[in-house]
Amino acid sequence: MKILLIGASGTIGKHLYKSFSKNNEVIPVGRTTGDITADITDIESIKNMYENAKGIDAVVCASGNAYFGMLDTMTEENVYKGIKNKLMGQVNLVLQGQHFLKPGSSITLTTGILSREGIPGGSAISLVNGAVESFVISAAQELFSKGIRLNAISPALVEDSIPVLGAAFPGHYPVSMEKVVFAYSKGVFGNVTGQIIKAED
Ligand SMILES: NC(=O)c1ccc[n+]([C@@H]2O[C@H](COP(=O)([O-])OP(=O)(O)OC[C@H]3O[C@@H](n4cnc5c(N)ncnc54)[C@H](OP(=O)(O)O)[C@@H]3O)[C@@H](O)[C@H]2O)c1
Repeated sequence: MKILLIGASGTIGKHLYKSFSKNNEVIPVGRTTGDITADITDIESIKNMYENAKGIDAVVCASGNAYFGMLDTMTEENVYKGIKNKLMGQVNLVLQGQHFLKPGSSITLTTGILSREGIPGGSAISLVNGAVESFVISAAQELFSKGIRLNAISPALVEDSIPVLGAAFPGHYPVSMEKVVFAYSKGVFGNVTGQIIKAED
């Protein structure tokens, strides 16, 4: 299988790259790293990426940023950061991807546990995670007729991020990277569509 992996150098993406590369051709993509560079916040960049990656069977996005911070100082601009990046970046991967991908292919997006569990400072991230998940549920039904599957992986705090993010997630049991890779594998190599696949322990 030929897999376009956006965010291949990241905390999650590097594990996906290592695992999927064993039996597949994986094209790593990042904003500044990878065999193809693309910025998911730029629609022209997304189109160029698809044009440069012909014949792909699967697109995986393990990227996406949103604002982390408390409500009492949060601005509209802060909220738009995630809408532009993690939400519309991934929505545009689907909107553009549907015109480039062939029947039998798949798109796997990334959300996160904050769509279903809150933490102080997490509301702008929760907002975009929930929006991506709701988008997937309906969009998958239309993509079904094109033979394209669409799912979102929703990981808990991943074990590799504990040193950086652990303090913001008190009491959250981290998910193993192995389980995270299994969740993405279900999206890419399974036959499910319209699913929010949780990766949590
Ligand atoms: N880490 C966690 O515990 C956790 C838990 C649940 C959900 N998530 C979600 O999982 C996703 C990945 O998280 P992560 O921690 O693995 O992220 P990360 O370590 O920050 O890695 C981000 C990756 O995305 C690429 N990237 C950044 N901005 C980009 C852009 N505008 N266009 C294209 N590529 C871009 C980076 O490559 P370049 O440096 O080359 O740009 C890098 O490969 C995010 O959506 C995050 O919210 C993470």
